Amino acid sequence: MEPKTERNLALELARVTEAAALAAGRFMGRNDKHGSDAAAVNAMRVMLNQIEMDGVVVIGEGEKDEAPMLFNGERIGTGVAPQVDIAVDPIDGTRLLALGRANALATVGLADRGSMYDPGPFVYMDKLAVGPTARGAIDINATPADNLRSVARAKGCDVQDLTVVCLDRPRHDQLVAAIRAMGARIRLVTDGDVAGALMTAWPESGIDILMGVGGSPEAVLAACALTCMGGEIQGKLYPRNADEIERGRAAGYDTSRILHTADLVRSDNCFFAVTGITDGELLPGVKYFGQGARTHSLVMRSKSGTVREITATHRLDKLMKFSDIKYD
Ligand code: FBP
Repeated sequence: MEPKTERNLALELARVTEAAALAAGRFMGRNDKHGSDAAAVNAMRVMLNQIEMDGVVVIGEGEKDEAPMLFNGERIGTGVAPQVDIAVDPIDGTRLLALGRANALATVGLADRGSMYDPGPFVYMDKLAVGPTARGAIDINATPADNLRSVARAKGCDVQDLTVVCLDRPRHDQLVAAIRAMGARIRLVTDGDVAGALMTAWPESGIDILMGVGGSPEAVLAACALTCMGGEIQGKLYPRNADEIERGRAAGYDTSRILHTADLVRSDNCFFAVTGITDGELLPGVKYFGQGARTHSLVMRSKSGTVREITATHRLDKLMKFSDIKYD
């Protein structure tokens, strides 16, 4: 008998991130973070609930945003097999979207039940991420200089040919100085380190490595994508204060532990989808015209390693006739 074709859930996830991007894209430049988050979360929830799966949200909206959440522990999907963990970031870069800046993305990741890392009380993680050509060449305990040399060696180029993406934050002053001292190029971004991690595995973006501290939930999403794309991420929990250290210790977390890609998502069966909300290096954003709109997405699956680029034209008047999502 022919082996049964396995369902590629990533294709179904594309409808989820498309819906979130279409709903959120209306908020570009309107300085309404909560309004855009609510629109994206609502659209995601409606679409996720249509997927035949028994899902649990393991990575919901970050608590630091006090956003209308797809909350951790929320059951999602139709409730039938497969049993899966879900990670969502309905808008990676709510501030980017609010100010009409580049690289706001709608993202969702999915993997076998019990496989996604729960960062517990820790809001931030120190991260290093690279694409497939530099996999195996990074070490989060090494200095930025050593990592840059090693990545350059793996890529067969000079350190000064590398471009590092890094969040523009005072906490990165030393890191940025160290990168500059090595002569590598830097792309300092105001927000969006899921985008940054994905770019390292997308040669057209021109980004070679992500360095620095960003959200812990975003690290799990990035791990899901990089597992599919053949890249690598390493992270270390980065406590903000004594309270996080105490709560983390009580819950059995070890902040010195290196979290590898396979610790963040312990499954070789994961799926990821991302749709551009505003234009960026990774994806074009949503374009609206009359009754319609166009979206650009990447959908990927770890088992096959296939990354699909999907451009879709949507008829918003039609969609709104049979869905609870407001797109106008
Ligand atoms: P949200 O848009 O989901 O709030 O995340 C934006 C972001 O830039 C993430 O990509 C990043 O991981 C995190 O915020 C960094 O946190 P902070 O802004 O507190 O430094």
